[in-house]
Amino acid sequence: MNIVTCTAPVNIAVIKYWGKRNEALILPINDSISASLDVAQLCAKTTVMSCPTFDSDRIWLNGREESIDNERLQSCIRNIKRQGTLSTGMEKWKVHICSINNFPTAAGLASSAAGYACLSTALAKLYKVNNDISAIARTGSGSACRSVFGGFVRWYMGVDAEGTDSIAKQIVPASHWPEMRIIILVVDDLRKKISSAIGMQRSVQTSELLRYRAEHCVPKRIEEMHQAIIHKNFEKFAELTIKDSNQMHAVCLDTYPPCSYLTDVSHAISDLIHAYNNAVHSTKVAYTNDAGPNTVLYLLEKNVPEIVGVLQHFFPPGNDQNIDYIRGNLPSGIIPSKNLLSKIKCERQTPGQIKYMIYTRIGDGPQYLEDPKEHLLDNRGFPVH
Ligand code: DP6
Repeated sequence: MNIVTCTAPVNIAVIKYWGKRNEALILPINDSISASLDVAQLCAKTTVMSCPTFDSDRIWLNGREESIDNERLQSCIRNIKRQGTLSTGMEKWKVHICSINNFPTAAGLASSAAGYACLSTALAKLYKVNNDISAIARTGSGSACRSVFGGFVRWYMGVDAEGTDSIAKQIVPASHWPEMRIIILVVDDLRKKISSAIGMQRSVQTSELLRYRAEHCVPKRIEEMHQAIIHKNFEKFAELTIKDSNQMHAVCLDTYPPCSYLTDVSHAISDLIHAYNNAVHSTKVAYTNDAGPNTVLYLLEKNVPEIVGVLQHFFPPGNDQNIDYIRGNLPSGIIPSKNLLSKIKCERQTPGQIKYMIYTRIGDGPQYLEDPKEHLLDNRGFPVH
């Protein structure tokens, strides 16, 4: 019996991946850049186990057994096995997989990136794969290739038709910009969403703006972002982050029929961030949205208390006592001065529009957990309860 357990981070893109040039291989139409978040607040944890007595491959996700006959899952397992250097017959043993997220799926945060990065990392050790595994994680979910590393990460679109050069590389580790902080604003949303995969496919088929973005905007912006990160130029970083998020959502609206992921609350949050940056005469906070209404803020640690105070003023918490409004050791917000509030030209929202906030920072890439107590599968290969 062989068993491996590891964790992998969630990542939030600052230059977005939106659109594939090859659906089957998951090859993007542009480079993208993201930061991997600290696993203490958000991560996937996966145990993989292979054993000669297992009858079939099986997978449990967040406590429920799911079908293993999922094309993306299969392609990840297949690619790992193909590159594995095991030659003792063990490569033929069936595998059991158990994976959980340490954050509620109801938070509406993309978990597939962390999940596929974690699965690929765990399987890579089980099957002794020694090469870069970002291209394998990519075949599970495109953005997963960026969660294979910590810090700031760039996914190079590559030119090879087979995708061998469509890989992720770390730009800088988390320690390069230790002052950077992230606040995730979780917004209530009961709408049925269009998945990123379907949304971007529809954009590729119908949006002219998408083509313009990939050919003319991202190539320049990605280099500027890369440099802004290396030089820790927050103002530039923030401006590019905001512009790129808005351009991705403009492409979504240019799609036919349109995909609209943002709600009135998401727009009210971005209005507040612009009004705040305007009031303090500096771009102190960046916002970005993925394929959903939750907003992610990037900001520097020294500005956190004031911004939390401003957020709490304009988006007061709801009355539900059971909801922890602030998660992840967020320093309590300082009450903003009357002078500052008078300069922020924004409407105060009714309580409860932001369900809760998650405070975190940039973190490391996947980690193997050696302590047997960490395994999610017992000796027989079934989930530990
Ligand atoms: C909006 O990686 O979830 O989060 O490759 O089809 O699995 P698939 O899509 P996915 O797309 C993520 C898109 C995004 C932007 C980003 O993370 O770059």
